[in-house]
Amino acid sequence: MRLADRAKNISPSPTLDIDARAKKMIAAGEKVINFGAGEPDFDTPEHIKEAAMAAIRMGKTRYTPVGGILELREAIVKKLKVDNGLDYTTDQIVVSVGAKHSLYNAMMVLLQPGDEVILPAPYWVTYLEQIKLAGAVPVIVQTSQENGFKLTAEQLRSVISPRTRMVILNSPGNPTGAVYSRDELLELGKVIEEYGLVVISDEIYEKLIYDDYRHTSIASLSPALKELTVIINGMSKAYAMTGWRIGYAAAPAEVAKAMVDLQSHSTSNPTSIAQAASVAALTGTQEPLKEMVAEFRRRRDYMLQRLNAMPGISCSTPHGAFYVFPSIAGYIGRQYKGRRIHGASDLASLLLDEVKVAVVPGVAFGDDRCFRLSYATSMENIEEGLNRIEQFVSRID
Ligand SMILES: Cc1ncc(COP(=O)(O)O)c(C=O)c1O
Repeated sequence: MRLADRAKNISPSPTLDIDARAKKMIAAGEKVINFGAGEPDFDTPEHIKEAAMAAIRMGKTRYTPVGGILELREAIVKKLKVDNGLDYTTDQIVVSVGAKHSLYNAMMVLLQPGDEVILPAPYWVTYLEQIKLAGAVPVIVQTSQENGFKLTAEQLRSVISPRTRMVILNSPGNPTGAVYSRDELLELGKVIEEYGLVVISDEIYEKLIYDDYRHTSIASLSPALKELTVIINGMSKAYAMTGWRIGYAAAPAEVAKAMVDLQSHSTSNPTSIAQAASVAALTGTQEPLKEMVAEFRRRRDYMLQRLNAMPGISCSTPHGAFYVFPSIAGYIGRQYKGRRIHGASDLASLLLDEVKVAVVPGVAFGDDRCFRLSYATSMENIEEGLNRIEQFVSRID
């Protein structure tokens, strides 16, 4: 059967190879330490599960409005006000089947074929594929570890062309954990306003933030920026609800309406029960979140200290999300038993083969000098995994 060009252009995930091999080894009973997790290793808090069970018992099992039940959209409006200082109305909120779906809807209703989209690298690979699916052209801008993996206003200005339509911002970011400060966003905001660019601001890791860093939504910086921004957020990371599949967008009303119309012909509403659970997540106690953040921070600090003590590895401090993104540049060009290390992918492959540690090579995010380690795994695993990495790299010629 002939596939459409659209399908042929989708790149398989570059992380699939390591992931598939790691899973095969785990299935064969091998003790692999997996640093690949993209989801919290905590369980969904009890009161959220209870709300879902109550929804089932109350018969909340039917179609809901396409863009989400009013109660949830009201809870999101309140959250945006309290946490972000933003005033939205419920017709500007669209609830979808995960933030990934929210992003997809936004790209589909905003991008024309040939539009250019500025994507700072390292990036979460889904952005790249969704831009291509919309027929638009990704313009990748490499950020550096020295710059904290953040796009600068000068970099942004230098890549704008008459065809630039959109810029993607993700703070706190995956895979780097970078958090943009208010001042940095103000600088970017000036350029964005000057050219009237659309901003997709993916804020899904908003609550997973450490030290004295604070999350700022670029939409909150001026009324003009709010009009140019689509905020993406969701339940997956903050409330350990990855499987429930609830994300949302906050956008100007005409964009929100277009997203609802599009969604009405694909998934329709997200699951009614998961929506009820999400109301409880947003309006109920935030204690489990605080505990999770404290534990993530403890693990992050430990990982940073261990990784930075290894020769040839350097890791800047990520202030958000649950990943560290160390540079392994010190090993590029070196060899292990005759196998040359050309980039982080080769080192990742060796780590899996030789010491059964799975990491995600940075090539997946547009930067093969680094790899990503998730600390959404137990302290015991982290200690053991880092011991193995340390022993292995000491044997590289
Ligand atoms: C940056 C970023 N945005 C969005 C998502 C998607 O989250 P959801 O589970 O809500 O689709 C992820 C998940 O890994 C992510 O890393």
